[in-house]
Amino acid sequence: MFPNLSQKTKRENIKLLSAVQISGVTFFVYKNEDGKICLKSGEEEKLQKAAVKKMISLNPRISKLLERYRIKPSIDTKTLKELAGGHMNETCKVAMGILSMLAENIKIGINSGTIKEASMLHDLGKVLIPSKILNKPAKLNKKERKIMNIHSTLGYELLKTQNIKEETLDLVKYHHQNLKHDGYPILTDRQHPSDIGVQIISTADKYSALRETRVYRRKLSRIESLLILYKEVLEGKIHKEVYNALLGYAAQFDK
Ligand SMILES: [Fe+2]
Ligand SMILES: [Fe+2]
Repeated sequence: MFPNLSQKTKRENIKLLSAVQISGVTFFVYKNEDGKICLKSGEEEKLQKAAVKKMISLNPRISKLLERYRIKPSIDTKTLKELAGGHMNETCKVAMGILSMLAENIKIGINSGTIKEASMLHDLGKVLIPSKILNKPAKLNKKERKIMNIHSTLGYELLKTQNIKEETLDLVKYHHQNLKHDGYPILTDRQHPSDIGVQIISTADKYSALRETRVYRRKLSRIESLLILYKEVLEGKIHKEVYNALLGYAAQFDK
């Protein structure tokens, strides 16, 4: 599928370990072919592409998913770079803000490192979504929506072979799930993602997205964004305490 996969190069031995935030910018952390940990270099895009190719080759479920949805495999590192420096970074900031404002009895068992890691990696799967869908300046049609909605599963499958904690993987997979459990991917009886963890990431994700300019709409104001999310509280999709924590964060830090 990827012609270079059969050519064993040193570059393919790199491994994506995690993501960290430095001066407000997200960097992907790699172990390179010499075992050195690196954050960013002149080869950043090539490294990212090689890391994603390696992740695909390690998990055959990814190619099957792409085939099932008839997605032509291509790796959009431009999108990944933008997401890492923009939306995923913002989501992380808001998620950490929500977490800090949440009452202790609500956040029992929630690990801040896991929330940080998952929010910084949550949309990684978009690297495999065709850019004409990602950047469509209009509403997606039914078929395009179906393709877009597999990005959380693709992100999970990409990261599954990368020594990333299961808790982080679950949050990446279910960051579009909600309190009513009618989001995506569809839950089976055996799957019980941690509701508060998912709520923190998904609420931060929605708020950050509303506060950003998108190709199909302008950036919404703080009040407009909070009102939209309040409707989701009334619909039982967002946990009231998580929403209140978001209100506290937005009032103090999103001027
Ligand atoms: Fe997403
Ligand atoms: Fe997102």
